[in-house]
Amino acid sequence: MTRLDRVEQTSARFTGPPLTPRTAVIWSVLRAELERRAGDRLTVLDVGGGTGGFAVPLAQAGHRVTVVDASPDALAALTRRAAESGVADRVRAVQGDGDALAGLVEPASVDLVLCHSVLEVVDDPASVVAALVTALRPGGAASVLVAGQAAAVLGRAMNGHLDVAAALAADPAGTAGPRDTLRRRYDADRAAALLAAAGLTVEEIHGVRVLADLLPAAVADGQQAAVVELERALAARPPYRDLAAQLHLFARRPA
Ligand SMILES: C[S@@+](CC[C@H](N)C(=O)[O-])C[C@H]1O[C@@H](n2cnc3c(N)ncnc32)[C@H](O)[C@@H]1O
Repeated sequence: MTRLDRVEQTSARFTGPPLTPRTAVIWSVLRAELERRAGDRLTVLDVGGGTGGFAVPLAQAGHRVTVVDASPDALAALTRRAAESGVADRVRAVQGDGDALAGLVEPASVDLVLCHSVLEVVDDPASVVAALVTALRPGGAASVLVAGQAAAVLGRAMNGHLDVAAALAADPAGTAGPRDTLRRRYDADRAAALLAAAGLTVEEIHGVRVLADLLPAAVADGQQAAVVELERALAARPPYRDLAAQLHLFARRPA
């Protein structure tokens, strides 16, 4: 990082977009990393970044963001969103595969990589994580969000699908069979082991949507600020963390 790369707009005051129960915990973790690097213009890679829900706010904070996604439609929406937000010059949309980043992103060039809700659907999560690590500079950080197995079991059971819940609980990959929309789900230990096996040091694990999916709509919609606060209070604390719909892991490539 040179002095020329430092950017005035990126400051400890970055707050991100309005917090929702789906994003509050993730933004809290990312904000801490941005504050740690305050003043630096970061190179960010969002693998499977979709329509830019994270990429655009990060670009608005002054960072340069490359989104690699398999879907041309998602990338078109991202490009429109970046233009409407005035950050088209800081957002690069690249169509490609998460496990074939080598030709798309220079190795060891990225300060912060995001991989949210992608490892559940790819062919080979280990090769995607290996590609993320290759893209990261030593000391760079990874924000990884995966679906939680326990919440999916409870959700199926609460909806009366006890056979599906039993299958999901028994499956080492955390799927409910061939009709499941996801190819795998994780618990905290398996997700951490996946990242550690690729050489990342896992620093934090949080549950995302511990409560949000369980609440009556009147509570979720009518008391959103209180729900956000409670999500943040419970996110790092087992057993609540481990029952969340998603698990967020923050990890670092050793310097
Ligand atoms: C559930 S969406 C998540 C989008 C975004 N990360 C978020 O959290 O809002 C999954 C995204 O991953 C993309 N995707 C799926 N398989 C991929 C792959 N092998 N390589 C790159 N992107 C992929 C999809 O096109 C989609 O945009």
